[in-house]
Amino acid sequence: MLRTCLCAALLVMAGCERIMTEAPPAGEDFASPLEGMAGELNAVFLQGDENFARPFTPAEGLGPLFNNVSCEGCHPGDGRGTPAEGFFRFSSGGNLLADQGGPQHQDKNITGAPSEQVPAGADRSFRLPPPVFGMGLIEAIPAEIILANEDPEDRDGDGISGRANWVQAPDFVPASHVGGGPGPQLGRFSRKAQVSSLVHQVAAAYQQDIGITSDFLPVENPHPQAGSVALGDQVPDPEIPAATVLQTVMYLRLLAPPAQGLRTPQAERGEALFGQLGCATCHVPAMRTGPHPIPQLSQQVVRLYSDLLLHDMGPDLADHRPDGDASGSEWRTAPLWGTRLVGDFLGGKTFFLHDGRAATLDQAIHLHGGEAQAAREGYAGLGSPGQQDLLTFLGSL
Ligand code: HEC
Ligand code: HEC
Repeated sequence: MLRTCLCAALLVMAGCERIMTEAPPAGEDFASPLEGMAGELNAVFLQGDENFARPFTPAEGLGPLFNNVSCEGCHPGDGRGTPAEGFFRFSSGGNLLADQGGPQHQDKNITGAPSEQVPAGADRSFRLPPPVFGMGLIEAIPAEIILANEDPEDRDGDGISGRANWVQAPDFVPASHVGGGPGPQLGRFSRKAQVSSLVHQVAAAYQQDIGITSDFLPVENPHPQAGSVALGDQVPDPEIPAATVLQTVMYLRLLAPPAQGLRTPQAERGEALFGQLGCATCHVPAMRTGPHPIPQLSQQVVRLYSDLLLHDMGPDLADHRPDGDASGSEWRTAPLWGTRLVGDFLGGKTFFLHDGRAATLDQAIHLHGGEAQAAREGYAGLGSPGQQDLLTFLGSL
C-alpha cells in the first residue's frame, strides 16, 4: 500500500524502484533476480541494474534525438510504462525509411538538433512500453516448442491460426546468441515479435530510445533533416562499449517473473472459463525452457500465458503497419504473467494492449477481434458472475 501511494505521488520524478522506502518481498515485484544467484552472476545482475536505471545527459552522449534518458524511465520498476512513455514507429508500406529518420519517432532533441519531422503519409503505430522481466526464460524456450503451437492454415478449424514472425537478425548479433546468425530467425521480442535476440533489442533501445551509440550500433540514428550529421551531440561514437550492452542484456535475462497470486475458488472457476472460451489457445499457460548453462533458466516451466506467436486481431486493433512478416493487423500474444501487480507500478492506474488504450482488463478483452472474436463473444455472453470469475483469475497471474 505504502509502495503504491509513494509511486503515485513521485512516479513522474523518478523511477518507481528507486523511491521505494523498502524493497517489496521477492515475488511481489518485477525487479527481482532469479532465485539462488550468487557470485559472478549476481555481480553482473547488479551492474546491469545500474545500467538500466542510469540517466544519460547530453555530455554523456544523450541524443541528438531521443525519447527518454534511461531504460527505467520507460519501464518503471521493470514493468510496463504509461502512454506518456510510449512512442510511435513509422515506415511506409514496409519500408523502414532508415534514411529519413525511421523506424521510430523520437519526440525529444538536445540543444542544437532540430526536432524530428516524420515524412508525410508514413504509416504510424503507437507502442506502450511492455514489462521486461522474464526475458531470459522467454529466450530459453526452444524454437520447436514455440513452433509446435503454430497453425497457420487453421487445420484444427478453431478460427485461431498463430504463426511465427521470421526476421533477419542484424549482422552485429553474435551467432552464439539465441536469435543471432544468418538466415531467418524466430522473432520473440516486442509487440509484433519483430526482434529475435536480446542483444538486438537492447542495442537498438540504447541507440533509438536514448540516442546512445555502442560498439554494436556505433552510428547515431540518421537525423531526417540533418542526415548523418549528429547535430549538437559532441560525444565521440561509440558512446558505450559492447560490455555495457551485454551487462544490460544479462540483467534482463536474469530478471525473475513475479510469483502467481492466490488461486481462490473464484479464480479457479475463472481459470476453467479461460480454457473453455479459447483464451488459453493463444495465451498458452506454460511452456518449458530447454537445457541452459544457467541452472535457473534450464528446464524451467515458464508460466507466461502467451504462445509468443502472431495473431490477426481484427480491424479495431490493426495498426496497418507491417513489421517483418507481421501484417498490419497481427500482434504477438501479450504475456499475462504479472497482471496482478500492474497497477502497483503506475500509481494504481493500468494500461493494456499494444498502445495502452484499454484502462481495464474488461476493456482489453472487449477489444479482441479477428482470430479472438469468438473468445470475446464468449466472454460477453458469460454475464456478470462469470466475467468476474475470469477477471479474478487474470488478477491472480
Ligand atoms: C522511450 C521509452 C523506452 C525506453 C527509453 C526504453 N524502452 Fe524498451 N521498449 C519500449 C517500447 C515502446 C517497447 C515495445 C517496442 C515495440 O513493440 O516495437 C520496448 C520493448 C522492450 C523490450 C522487449 C520486451 C518484450 O516483451 O519483448 C525489452 C527487453 C526492452 N524494451 C528493454 C529496454 C532496455 C534494456 C532499455 C534501455 C537500454 C529500454 N528498453 C529503453 C520503450 C522504451
Ligand atoms: C487469437 C488469440 C487470442 C485469444 C483467443 C485471446 N487473446 Fe488476449 N491477446 C491476444 C493478443 C495478440 C493480445 C495483444 C493485443 C494488442 O497488444 O493489441 C492480447 C492481449 C490480451 C490482454 C492485454 C494484456 C496486456 O498486458 O496488455 C488481455 C488481458 C487478454 N488478452 C486476455 C484475454 C482473455 C481473457 C481471452 C479470452 C476471453 C483472450 N485474451 C483471448 C491474443 C488472444
